[in-house]
Amino acid sequence: MRGILKNLYIIMGVMLILVALPVLVFGDTDAQIAGKCMTCHKEKSLGLYQQWFMSQHAMHKVTCIDCHGAKKGDKDGFMHEGALIATLVTPKDCGTCHEKEAKEVQNSYHATAGEILDSKDAYLAHVAGGEPVAITGCESCHGGKIQIDKNSPNMLSKKSWPNSGIGRLNPDGSKGSCNACHTRHSFSIAQARKPEACSKCHLGPDHPQKEIYEESKHGNAYYTHEHEMNMDSDKWVVGVDYFEAPTCATCHMSATSSTPVTHDVGKRLSWTLRPPVSKHKDNWQEKRNNMKTVCITCHSQTFADGHYYQFDALVNLYNDKFAKPAGEIMKIVKARKLMENPAAFSNEIEWVYWELWHHEGRRARHGAAMMGPDYTWWHGIYDVAHNFYFKMLPEARKFNDPELNAYLDKLIKEDPMHEWLATPTGDIKEKIRSGEMQKVYEKLYNNK
Ligand code: HEC
Ligand code: HEC
Ligand code: HEC
Ligand code: HEC
Ligand code: HEC
Ligand code: HEC
Ligand code: HEC
Ligand code: HEC
Repeated sequence: MRGILKNLYIIMGVMLILVALPVLVFGDTDAQIAGKCMTCHKEKSLGLYQQWFMSQHAMHKVTCIDCHGAKKGDKDGFMHEGALIATLVTPKDCGTCHEKEAKEVQNSYHATAGEILDSKDAYLAHVAGGEPVAITGCESCHGGKIQIDKNSPNMLSKKSWPNSGIGRLNPDGSKGSCNACHTRHSFSIAQARKPEACSKCHLGPDHPQKEIYEESKHGNAYYTHEHEMNMDSDKWVVGVDYFEAPTCATCHMSATSSTPVTHDVGKRLSWTLRPPVSKHKDNWQEKRNNMKTVCITCHSQTFADGHYYQFDALVNLYNDKFAKPAGEIMKIVKARKLMENPAAFSNEIEWVYWELWHHEGRRARHGAAMMGPDYTWWHGIYDVAHNFYFKMLPEARKFNDPELNAYLDKLIKEDPMHEWLATPTGDIKEKIRSGEMQKVYEKLYNNK
């Protein structure tokens, strides 16, 4: 039905443009200038024009100038074929028609993603890498500050544009770019609901959400039933309009029968799994319950509770067994000024620690959060453990510092989670068989 309607709209649209054409040749009213955008760009950039022409925007008569039109005083405004326009179409511009979405985006964590210059990651990019990689790497995902260049035909500095990072700092003060997820110029809702909409950024060694999703049962079910997901539907309520599998959008953004769509991707998260040691977010129980309303569309409440019980224990395991001791080691190393070179990241142990939490530790936590067992263990805790025992500890021992050595000796001898290192295999196997070993980890489960 929607397909037939779409064709009808297109035929009507073509007829309208044909009727309007003779008028466009003369005169210069606003409507005529607006009409010329399409006529000329249909010749100059046909692909772009077609994307727009087939979109809901074209069907609802939202034309080039409705998005690209600039106001006097806009820092990035320039005269183009008789009209004051801007190349950038910021969240503020989209927000003139989509107020709710724009507000939610500005209040979300995504909007802060451009403020990374003070981070350790940025320091590393600027010293170990160099400026070009900060621009084409970091800022391509996070968003950079858009610089104005009065000598450039579109007023935008080539150093900062193109860029469609999720937290881009725009000249009008708004943050982000809606087309980070809504690919222009089709702005198709089906496209935004697919996992691919997120996976330019959410992948790789330090946040492999795409890979985890693909290996999870949810990804398996999605890719097997992709064409039964009703992605084009105006409303997209899980359980009502589709039911085979959840996508990233389903769990983090889209509607359930009792929860509305949100553009604030933090609304359903109870933990932050990014820092060296994970912490609960503010109001985390409420946020967790928001996520559970999604799960219980397809699972029982007990099943969903069971997932969180196991996931929490994995986060606690990472925190208590590895992240806290590794952090303590680094604290002692710094306090006692044991490192040879003065600059941060100029010593091997700093890279070892960095990879432990920033890459391996995140992979394990993300794997457990989103049901990817291979990332939880082989790309996760396995790598954390290998790093901790065979890189971190030997690097620390190299300093041969009495205080640091005392800390390490105590850790291995007295922490029952690390005791195995100095125990004969036979004794350990007996402890595993008898269940005594498992009891060591009982404290990691929350029995609330
Ligand atoms: C007579 C033809 C013509 C008309 C009319 C026209 N454009 Fe263009 N426009 C062009 C061409 C050609 C370019 C590409 C220039 C280039 O390649 O650098 C362009 C570039 C642009 C750009 C990108 C600028 C940049 O380099 O970042 C935008 C945005 C744009 N046009 C929007 C519009 C809008 C909105 C209208 C209607 C007000 C419009 N155009 C009318 C021919 C036209
Ligand atoms: C719904 C809003 C919207 C409409 C309608 C729209 N654009 Fe755009 N356009 C954008 C956005 C968003 C960008 C990316 C700019 C940014 O990241 O801020 C863009 C970028 C562009 C660019 C520069 C980027 C590139 O890929 O070269 C051109 C040229 C352009 N638009 C032309 C047009 C023309 C011509 C039309 C009408 C046929 C049109 N746009 C209609 C939102 C729109
Ligand atoms: C002049 C008003 C206007 C502007 C500006 C505008 N839109 Fe829209 N948009 C609409 C209308 C009208 C519709 C169709 C009715 C609806 O779905 O609300 C629509 C629909 C959409 C849809 C749903 C498309 C679908 O397949 O159902 C998305 C996504 C969207 N707009 C994103 C954007 C983004 C991103 C921007 C800025 C780059 C933007 N819009 C700018 C008016 C606008
Ligand atoms: C253009 C890159 C990009 C795209 C596309 C993107 N994200 Fe993000 N996302 C980020 C960055 C960067 C952060 C970290 C934000 C920061 O550092 O402030 C983030 C953070 C998040 C968070 C954590 C929020 C919090 O409050 O802690 C969630 C959840 C998330 N994104 C989900 C999604 C989903 C779902 C999609 C697709 C529908 C998506 N993202 C698309 C770059 C992106
Ligand atoms: C492929 C896209 C991508 C690239 C390239 C990238 N990041 Fe990120 N970054 C993300 C995403 C996505 C997140 C959020 C991950 C999550 O929540 O699990 C993130 C998280 C972060 C965080 C943590 C934010 C917080 O609040 O905990 C910082 C800081 C950061 N990135 C800085 C950088 C810097 C600096 C660079 C370049 C050296 C960089 N990133 C390169 C996508 C990227
Ligand atoms: C992190 C990715 C992401 C970003 C960034 C994003 N959107 Fe969306 N948007 C989505 C997804 C996913 C949906 C589909 C939600 C659903 O219906 O399931 C959507 C739906 C929409 C819709 C359709 C409304 C509806 O509920 O049917 C509009 C309009 C829209 N977005 C506008 C915007 C605007 C404007 C911005 C920038 C201020 C923006 N979006 C930024 C992912 C994003
Ligand atoms: C079945 C539901 C589900 C699906 C599908 C899903 N996620 Fe998640 N996601 C979760 C849960 C649950 C958490 C952890 C929530 C918490 O902290 O309580 C999470 C956490 C996250 C985080 C926060 C990580 C951090 O470092 O704090 C990001 C980012 C994220 N998901 C992105 C994605 C992306 C991108 C996709 C698709 C490739 C995706 N998710 C698919 C349920 C899902
Ligand atoms: C749209 C339906 C849907 C939603 C929503 C959904 N799931 Fe699932 N889930 C499935 C399907 C289908 C399977 C595969 C069942 C099977 O293996 O037979 C599955 C499997 C699982 C598994 C088993 C994984 C494995 O590898 O054995 C877990 C755990 C899980 N889901 C947890 C969750 C959690 C937690 C949420 C909410 C954050 C959630 N699911 C949301 C449909 C859904």
